[in-house]
Amino acid sequence: MLTIAEYREAIVDYLHQKIQVKEPVNLYEPMVYILEQGGKRLRPVLVLMAAEIFDCNHKKALDAALAIEVFHNFSLVHDDIMDDAPIRRGKKTVHEKWDINTGILSGDAMLINAYQLFENYEGDVFKELSKLFTKTAIEVCEGQQYDIDFETRDNVSIEDYLLMIEYKTAVLVGASLQMGAIVAETSAACKSAIYQYGRLLGIAFQLQDDYLDAFGDPATFGKQPGGDIIENKKTFLYLKSLELASPGEARQLEHLYSISPMENTGKIEAVKNLFESSGAAELTRKEIEKYTDMAFEVLDRIDLPEEKKKPLKSFGKMLMERQV
Ligand code: IPE
Ligand code: IPE
Ligand code: MG
Ligand code: MG
Ligand code: MG
Repeated sequence: MLTIAEYREAIVDYLHQKIQVKEPVNLYEPMVYILEQGGKRLRPVLVLMAAEIFDCNHKKALDAALAIEVFHNFSLVHDDIMDDAPIRRGKKTVHEKWDINTGILSGDAMLINAYQLFENYEGDVFKELSKLFTKTAIEVCEGQQYDIDFETRDNVSIEDYLLMIEYKTAVLVGASLQMGAIVAETSAACKSAIYQYGRLLGIAFQLQDDYLDAFGDPATFGKQPGGDIIENKKTFLYLKSLELASPGEARQLEHLYSISPMENTGKIEAVKNLFESSGAAELTRKEIEKYTDMAFEVLDRIDLPEEKKKPLKSFGKMLMERQV
């Protein structure tokens, strides 16, 4: 096993080899721009880790890992258009630096590039990877559609929200781990268990993303502070606040989420105060812990030596503590 930093390095090296600017530059420059910005590279690291945990050299999993990272970055370019986000990873988003058409087409090309990377596998491994990827990619689209629908729907439940984040985010984390397991040609039981571990961790991860969107340090989080509040996203923080607040405060919160002020009118601060005073902020932190613990229970039951599970567990713990 390598360290997380070493897996990340392996991915970045491979990325440099495989993805470069060429003609037409207006298609490829934005692609390299977003992929070179870094980001945490969590998903491809998980692909490589899973391959090695199931006794396969991580190099065999590099194409699948890069495919996942390219897909993830494609989804971010389109997500930033949909969320009207100006900043990602501390830099201008693709559609802000170029324009919306550039974001759409470069994103499309990235999605296709991701598929292309699976062509480097053969036989059953190729078939299994492609099937999982297709299933996951369509689920991500479904999750993204719910996310957008919820902005203007007023009867969203916590259950609806949890299903939405499972689709838009968690399935890709599960698929990353499962892809490593597929490349390693391990048992069906292990493939499915490792997917479940990633899915639960992915739910905790998106809860945390929503929490940090409101309460994270903008300098390290790299996105527009309060972006979800500006866009009236029905997050766990919002839905729990409505549930817990007094009727008067709940009405105030609903009102704040029905307006889209053009400039800073104190909406973000007012909403954050309600998230805190209702107790929803604290409950969100508990919920993150709950899903992480559920993930650890699944991990405990996987038929693997304890030594092999350790790096996966540390990874989960690291995610729970992240500020980025
Ligand atoms: C951002 O994912 C999108 C979500 C699913 C929350 P990451 O937080 O993994 O983004 P990067 O790649 O590290 O920037
Ligand atoms: C993004 O969710 C999920 C996908 C890109 C599929 P968010 O909209 O919360 O992600 P960020 O906060 O912009 O990274
Ligand atoms: Mg977004
Ligand atoms: Mg979004
Ligand atoms: Mg977010």
